[in-house]
Amino acid sequence: PEATPLAGIRLMLTAGPTREPLDPVRFISNHSSGKMGFALARAAVALGAEVTLVSGPVSLATPDGVQRIDVESAAQMHAAVMAGIDRQQIFIACAAVADYRPKLVASQKIKKSSDTMVIELTKNPDIVADVAALPNKPFTVGFAAETRDVEKYARDKLSRKGLDMIAANDVAKAGQGFNADDNALTLFWPEGQIELPLAGKTELARSLITLIADKYHETH
Ligand code: PMT
Repeated sequence: PEATPLAGIRLMLTAGPTREPLDPVRFISNHSSGKMGFALARAAVALGAEVTLVSGPVSLATPDGVQRIDVESAAQMHAAVMAGIDRQQIFIACAAVADYRPKLVASQKIKKSSDTMVIELTKNPDIVADVAALPNKPFTVGFAAETRDVEKYARDKLSRKGLDMIAANDVAKAGQGFNADDNALTLFWPEGQIELPLAGKTELARSLITLIADKYHETH
């Protein structure tokens, strides 16, 4: 029988992009497909976890055995996570959450007029940082999508956001990262790190979830 190191463990994940509306028909978003987060959800179910997947808009089927909550904006993702986080023992933030949203959302479609246009943005709440700051925080794992100085920025996010682990990917490399079927990650924690070389997201997710389960059990 398959090993079930996460049996009885409640694990919440975020996945996919967020959409930040400008008006009723337009939004700001990014290229996240949800593939990495959904692969992690499947891998966690396979190890016995009770998985809640908070997903931005993606075109992927819900993995078997996963409770899925669909959201669009960062604010909605934040609210959905906060509403369920009390019950969770592990939280993994794989979503590509927009750091900023348009300050004003027009109630009617914005009309074409002058040759240039300025959109003012305002900061979104940081979901993974808010989870890690909870008094009764779950074991919290973030992602870091970087285009340069991957280790430096990832370690900075690990400590600044108060995370237990962070999985960093170089999203400037072709054939991996956003929307690709493959990825490569470096997993950092305060006292160490490990390379997870280029592989399909399904295989990579299995390795990552196994490492997270090991570290969770070491510390709980
Ligand atoms: O979805 P795919 O197409 O499979 O692509 C996978 C991926 C490249 C999106 C994934 O591997 C990845 O890197 N996800 C994190 C993307 C990201 O937004 O990284 P970041 O470095 O900007 O954010 C750092 C961490 O803070 C992340 O855990 C992010 O979920 C979290 N965050 C960021 C902003 C915010 N307002 N709230 C957050 O929780």
